[in-house]
Amino acid sequence: MSDKEHLIIFDTTLRDGEQSPGASMTRDEKLRIATALERLKVDVIEAGFPAASNGDFEAVQAVANTVKDSTVCGLARALERDIDRAGEALKGANAGRIHTFIATSPIHMEKKLKMSPDQVVDQAVTAVKRARQHCADVEFSPEDAGRSELDFLCRILEAVIEAGAGTVNIPDTVGYAVPHQFGSLIAQLRERIPNADKAVFSVHCHNDLGLAVANSLAAVQQGARQVECTVNGLGERAGNAALEEIVMSVRTRQDSFGCDTRLDTTQIVNCSRLVSGITGFPVQPNKAIVGANAFAHESGIHQDGVLKHRETYEIMRAQDVGWHQNRMVLGKHSGRNAFRVRLEEIGIHLDSVEELNEAFRRFKDLADKKHEIFDEDLQALVTDATLGAANERVKLISMRVCSETGETPRADVVLSLDGEEEPGAAIGGGPVDATFRAIESIVNSGTTLKLYSVNAITSGTDAQGEVTVRLEKGGQVVNGAGADTDIVIASAKAYLNALNKLDSVGQRAHPQTGDV
Ligand code: KIV
Ligand code: ZN
Repeated sequence: MSDKEHLIIFDTTLRDGEQSPGASMTRDEKLRIATALERLKVDVIEAGFPAASNGDFEAVQAVANTVKDSTVCGLARALERDIDRAGEALKGANAGRIHTFIATSPIHMEKKLKMSPDQVVDQAVTAVKRARQHCADVEFSPEDAGRSELDFLCRILEAVIEAGAGTVNIPDTVGYAVPHQFGSLIAQLRERIPNADKAVFSVHCHNDLGLAVANSLAAVQQGARQVECTVNGLGERAGNAALEEIVMSVRTRQDSFGCDTRLDTTQIVNCSRLVSGITGFPVQPNKAIVGANAFAHESGIHQDGVLKHRETYEIMRAQDVGWHQNRMVLGKHSGRNAFRVRLEEIGIHLDSVEELNEAFRRFKDLADKKHEIFDEDLQALVTDATLGAANERVKLISMRVCSETGETPRADVVLSLDGEEEPGAAIGGGPVDATFRAIESIVNSGTTLKLYSVNAITSGTDAQGEVTVRLEKGGQVVNGAGADTDIVIASAKAYLNALNKLDSVGQRAHPQTGDV
């Protein structure tokens, strides 16, 4: 990095991103994403909300014990038990941070907390002091700062900095801010708070008006030196500021920003694919930086210009964010070693020999059906292989689907349910409908299908289809993902993946609403 100031990238994919409907992740999935984020060189990884459930506690603990080069952060409401739980989960971290928060907007204080402003300040200060007993690195957020009163924000932030918060984060919790006003808020806070120079100012913007990145960048121009963001902009409702857009804006427009990040941007595309595969949130093709079309030049004039001189139409190089290096193709004759090396090159490290063997077996199966295997295929295949882990309750043994003009589609499936093979059959409106009904005839899950989507992973009619299925049961929502060259089989895999997630993720408290 040059002589520019350092912009801290605080990734909250594993915490705020996970609050998206159905994006709940298992401990192992969180570990895989955390490792990819560490490779991307993000400064801080917010690994979760340890007080939410035992599963969340264990996931944060596992990330804290594994990640070495990034700070690992745990979220805690401004409550003693949340803070102690976070402190406990972070004990094994090389560098740990507790992020504690309490709402400061009139509407949140009055309607949600039913507390007076004085009580809120007291509780915030007590929380920061408590967090400092666990670790030196403490961050405080006045939730819904975007709709809080400036005088009150100045008062509470001065008090928490005095109490030991080294980072003060300004969240636009409901995505209400607009860039010039949000930038000016940061400028005024930095100017008016007497001890402002003792803390790093951070921002955390939601995307309800599509302005999360613009608001964050306006804040950076006014001296914010930490941005909280998520891979692919994942997050509640319309999501959070997209990490890749923040990082590449600052990197590309060095003339506009007095700072830069230390990220290895060539890891961006790998990270994006991993997060999308695990959470079942596909990336739209025209998404900046990580969308499939982000660097595609369709129109003749553009193609001509790019061929003559790349910079006529390109402001960034595709390989700088990890695109071109991913073009290497494997095929039917590629060996196990080439397969493993390529996986490592695209940032996938399989922990056990069993996982590698299973992934290689699937690779060979796929290579029989598909001539060329691209990195996108490998990513999907490995996500599939690790999802199909031994602890799954329901597994697909075989299926047969008939779909014929003028006939009602019918599916016959054989599942392994708690280790026992069970056959099932059903008819349906189409082959996918018949398959889901046949699965349900065996498992009787009591779930409701909330979303079904199919995407082609690469181009060509032999491409793998990537299916996302969202299921809901008793208020719990999960996404399942599955990939196969046969989209009906991919659909069955996605459905079973979602059913298995319902079992493994379990119920948890929401940090902001407290709902379980
Ligand atoms: O959006 C928000 O206010 C949050 C806080 C917990 C920082 O996610
Ligand atoms: Zn948030």
